[in-house]
Amino acid sequence: MKKILGISGSPRKPGNCEIMLKAVARNVPEELELRLLRLADFDLRPCKGCYRCLFKEKRCILKDDIYQIIDALAWADAIILAVPTYFLGANAMLKLLLDRGLCFYGHIEKLWGKPSIGIGIAGIAGKEGSTLLGIERFQRVMLADVKRALMVYGALPGEVFMNPENRDTAAALGRALFQPAPAPAPEEPDCPLCGSHTFRFLGGNQVRCMLCSNDGTIDLAAGTPVFTIAGSGHDLFLKEDDALEHENWLVGMKERYLANKEALKKITKAYRKDGTWIKPEPQA
Ligand SMILES: Cc1cc2nc3c(=O)[nH]c(=O)nc-3n(C[C@H](O)[C@H](O)[C@H](O)COP(=O)(O)O)c2cc1C
Repeated sequence: MKKILGISGSPRKPGNCEIMLKAVARNVPEELELRLLRLADFDLRPCKGCYRCLFKEKRCILKDDIYQIIDALAWADAIILAVPTYFLGANAMLKLLLDRGLCFYGHIEKLWGKPSIGIGIAGIAGKEGSTLLGIERFQRVMLADVKRALMVYGALPGEVFMNPENRDTAAALGRALFQPAPAPAPEEPDCPLCGSHTFRFLGGNQVRCMLCSNDGTIDLAAGTPVFTIAGSGHDLFLKEDDALEHENWLVGMKERYLANKEALKKITKAYRKDGTWIKPEPQA
């Protein structure tokens, strides 16, 4: 029996994300238990950047629901994620969870390498902006194995399945969850290191992959773009060892902070008194 966690980034019940991830799960050719997690149901607070989740008991100081989500991820054999596009990117619920990613680096052994499918849903074809990158980034930072990540379109709740092609997509994604990831398609050139489709152009033929953050070149071979990208020596998630090394690097920040504490304090102190902070008024 496979344990599958479906994560919906949408607060809409039932919306396109919810039915899409359930349709993918229905098509997984295994006996399974499906647990569902709607991110908007959970109290998730913004990361404070204190790094304490990486030290001692490896617990975040924020008293919210983050470890319920980590426990659900640890329980799962595989993850299906569906997230709506809001204003040209994956919606804020996904980023709120992603920003707590330091908590995940403290538990690499429980989370590494789970097969995952990521689906972005936008209302208007082509108007998804950076949604797919946001989803792939989530899959990678959550230390999952990316089997597929793609966009589908549908605006009204349920509309995604007014297009029968999206039912076929759901079926193909379900079948793909426990299969090896496919070879990249030549018509959709991607980063040879991490599989992302999003690059920044740095001038000339120089490019940077926006997911694994490595640099390289783009050239045309018989009219088809070909990316050549080299690792930087500090990769965040390409292999489990990269993730473990990155965790050590993060832990090492404490030593760096202590060694530079006085100089850092001097820099920040010089700005302490500028301006007046506007604070929220208590609600009536
Ligand atoms: C606040 C908001 C912003 C949106 N921004 C976009 C957008 O930038 N591009 C787009 O194509 N669709 C946009 N949409 C449409 C949603 O992506 C679409 O309705 C999707 O199906 C929502 O998924 P759900 O039904 O699971 O909530 C937006 C919807 C909302 C509510």
